[in-house]
Amino acid sequence: MNILIIGGGGREHAIAKALAKSNKTDKLYCAPGNGGISALAECFPDVKATDLDGVCALADKLKPDFVFVAPDDPLVMGLVDRLNEMGFKTFGPNAAAAIIEGSKAFSKSLMKKYGIPTAEYETFTDEDKACEYIKSRNTYPAVIKADGLALGKGVIIAKDFDEAKSAVHSMLVDGKFGKSGSEIVVEEFMDGTEITVLAFTDGKTVKPMVSSMDHKRALDNDEGLNTGGMGAVAPNPLYTEKVAKECMEKIFEPTVRAMNSEGRPFKGCLYFGLMLTKDGAKVVEYNSRFGDPEAQAVLPLLETDLVDIMTAIWEEKLGALDIKWSEKSSACVVMASGGYPEKYETGKPISGLDEHGQLADGGAYVYHAGTKLSDGQYLTAGGRVLGVTAVGEDLRTALNSAYNAVEKISFEKVHYRKDIGAKAVNS
Ligand code: AMP
Ligand code: GLY
Repeated sequence: MNILIIGGGGREHAIAKALAKSNKTDKLYCAPGNGGISALAECFPDVKATDLDGVCALADKLKPDFVFVAPDDPLVMGLVDRLNEMGFKTFGPNAAAAIIEGSKAFSKSLMKKYGIPTAEYETFTDEDKACEYIKSRNTYPAVIKADGLALGKGVIIAKDFDEAKSAVHSMLVDGKFGKSGSEIVVEEFMDGTEITVLAFTDGKTVKPMVSSMDHKRALDNDEGLNTGGMGAVAPNPLYTEKVAKECMEKIFEPTVRAMNSEGRPFKGCLYFGLMLTKDGAKVVEYNSRFGDPEAQAVLPLLETDLVDIMTAIWEEKLGALDIKWSEKSSACVVMASGGYPEKYETGKPISGLDEHGQLADGGAYVYHAGTKLSDGQYLTAGGRVLGVTAVGEDLRTALNSAYNAVEKISFEKVHYRKDIGAKAVNS
């Protein structure tokens, strides 16, 4: 099977690696891909994931047997719909279903309508009404969210009224997130620990993957700005069997049923961002795709062939497939450019990698998030540069191997967190 992967980050590298493992995979293509992915797939750096016309033209040229659409924007923009119209088989939801990530106003009202546990909320397009509501609730922190996609940066946790008011103003009046912030959600702050559960679903059956823990803040001890994710571990020890059962009954199955009832069956990977509160698990957010860096931690534990899963989802036969996971643990440490998630420099030579973009002596797998291969030299090309991932008998072993590998790689102004997985190991 020839497979075209859309996207060009660490997540797509993890997907490429899992697909490359399959004996059913013939050739892999990736648009745009990156330096590291080019060791596994023929990359098309000029075709951006959001360039729907460009991607469709490429698919038309390559005639792949399957197209795996990994990032949120092209899913929300309807790339899957267009590819299906052209006759291609795809992995990923169509636009009608990807709205579960594309609009927080949609996902919140879905949860309210179907009784899926989440934070109390109201939506607003008017600044005065939003501020009135915040004042009348008078409970802080207050959570203000832009409705649409905002690279994970559209959420402000305001500690008092003044902060909340300026967040509302920045989104609704100053247009800080453009159209994504022309409607906002104001919601209750949920206290607890976060868990990510990715799940395969064909719209009928939902099969959760091994749970994981993301590390969203830039600095150790969960300080600093929110990022796309600075590291992940899997499984998440807080996700006990009891919690898993509760989530399946109250969140996962009801969500898949709700999307069906709305005439928006979801096919692909549904991301459940959960908060374990004292009143049980609640949904923080849904995403319509694999998490990044959660995919880099979770997919190495997948024992079943990803091509078989992809095919079963396409054929809506996921219920008949037994998906197997390793009992081991996995840890991914992200090496970022100094300054990320704000201003950072690129083009820095990366030392410690061999010609395949890997460590010569193994011990860990290096997922490339933002790299470029130039005359045989890997250069930094993004905020998040590498996701160094190791699998071990337990989480402590996996973390040791991942950090040992990180020590062997360097580039100017590299930044990484030293405490990935610390909370999980100590819980
Ligand atoms: P989201 O983009 O909705 O996932 O939000 C980004 C991050 O903000 C989440 O991963 C949480 O850490 C935090 N967050 C969002 N909503 C809430 C909430 N209602 N209560 C507490 N934290 C939240
Ligand atoms: N790591 C969070 C996300 O992919 O949205």
